[in-house]
Amino acid sequence: MKRIAIFASGTGSNARKIVEHLEDNKQIEVALIASNRKSAKVLDMAMKFGIDTKVITRQDFYESDRFLNTLKNIEIDWVVLAGFLWLVPSNLISSYSNRIVNIHPALLPAYGGKGMYGMNVHRAVKENKEKTSGMTIHLVNEHYDEGAIIFQGSTDIEVNDTAEDIAAKVLKLEHEYYPRVVEGLVMAQTK
Ligand code: GAR
Repeated sequence: MKRIAIFASGTGSNARKIVEHLEDNKQIEVALIASNRKSAKVLDMAMKFGIDTKVITRQDFYESDRFLNTLKNIEIDWVVLAGFLWLVPSNLISSYSNRIVNIHPALLPAYGGKGMYGMNVHRAVKENKEKTSGMTIHLVNEHYDEGAIIFQGSTDIEVNDTAEDIAAKVLKLEHEYYPRVVEGLVMAQTK
């Protein structure tokens, strides 16, 4: 059995898709959903599914090993970021080397880096009159959006698409692929 923790800052629609997808998988358990925002909707979702939750504080995350130790104590094997807006600190990166995965709502390396999250990404894509956008699933290192790319999915953008339309198209791709890619990564390690 492999145990994963999902970190999310907001709605958690990707987190929910992952939880639902893995319900039928007897070898992977979503053991924790953590958020840096105590009012994040993702925590309500977790509670509905009976999944343990934790609010991450800056002190625990950046100024000590407390959060890392929490993950170790509950034997977390993988960390899945799903709309998590804090940079992951180096103590977690080294303890979970190649076992932290993120999803980004653009075709990296384009539209990545600090400040490039959520609607900021889709507005920039629209402003630049891009003809395609998409999503990237990648491993996490110390820098925003720079780890090894595992999977990308793309979607066409019509001239009349608004930034909101682009966001909806990209989110659909995320929901379609992220649960399966996470499952594939974790299962590959269990063999
Ligand atoms: C997703 O589109 C994800 O790619 C993005 O936040 C959204 C979260 O939606 N992540 C980033 O922008 C990270 N740089 P959700 O809370 O509904 O899953």
